Amino acid sequence: MNMQIITTIREMQQACRALKSTRTLGLVPTMGALHDGHLSLVHRALAECDVVAASIFVNPTQFAAGEDFEVYPRTFEEDCEKLEAAGVALLFAPSAEEMYPDGARTFVEVAALGDRLDGASRPGHFRGVATVVSKLFNIVGPDRAYFGQKDAAQVAVLRAMVRDLNIPVHLVACPIVRERDGLAMSSRNRNLSAEDRRRALILHRALVVAQEIVQTGESSAETLRGAMLNIFAADPTVRVDYAAIVDPATLLPVADTSRGALIAVAAWVGSTRLIDNVLLEMHPDESRPTGDLRPDPALMEAPHA
Ligand code: PAF
Repeated sequence: MNMQIITTIREMQQACRALKSTRTLGLVPTMGALHDGHLSLVHRALAECDVVAASIFVNPTQFAAGEDFEVYPRTFEEDCEKLEAAGVALLFAPSAEEMYPDGARTFVEVAALGDRLDGASRPGHFRGVATVVSKLFNIVGPDRAYFGQKDAAQVAVLRAMVRDLNIPVHLVACPIVRERDGLAMSSRNRNLSAEDRRRALILHRALVVAQEIVQTGESSAETLRGAMLNIFAADPTVRVDYAAIVDPATLLPVADTSRGALIAVAAWVGSTRLIDNVLLEMHPDESRPTGDLRPDPALMEAPHA
């Protein structure tokens, strides 16, 4: 089936309304430069919804002045091929003028939560995210919307927004997809030099060490944080933004991980800021919370390129 590409809000609203009258609609919002992490969201949406829409919009309001809006990777043609091959029915790809016409003055701010983790180091970032995602929800009216758990703080902010504003959408957070060597897939990985790509593995390494310590029975967040900072100290060219152990819903620090926690890191590798995390959860028959830091199983089965 051919994917329909729509650039205006009016047309997208009409197309979605027509689809929704008889079928469940899933939405995968993206900023493009698609990788297997995005495609995992599409596959999950296709498994759970009758029809799937995606959006590609590099949202200017979630980038502060001096951030990487200009150099954010843009690969529109390639993205369209991937989405169509995956089975997406509708792609919404508006211009900035279409989304933010002159005079647009209404923003969505998720108080307090929006200033934690990435929100602390990127003031205004989550205001931009919450605004554009609520606009996409109003335009598409999805039954379910799919986001990557790599952006754990974004997931917490959007869950709070959906709850507080009574938006009738079910938000689904999908597991992080990792490269063969553990690096979390990210559109920004395209901007890493070969040397920085190698250095970037330190984020995953810090999380693996923290998780290993948890498995020994240690649950002090301060100990885990110290161990992660030690790992980062081994490469002074990587600038840590945060290494945090928090409640995944409130993003507030926790002192103890014995009932679960989100362990999240952010660091500058060269001029690229990367994030990664592991969600430690209690599973039946396990005495300690565990998370998944393994590479994408599909990659492990595939022969080396
Ligand atoms: O996660 C992203 O790619 C973006 O923050 C999103 C949700 C598409 C909003 O611009």
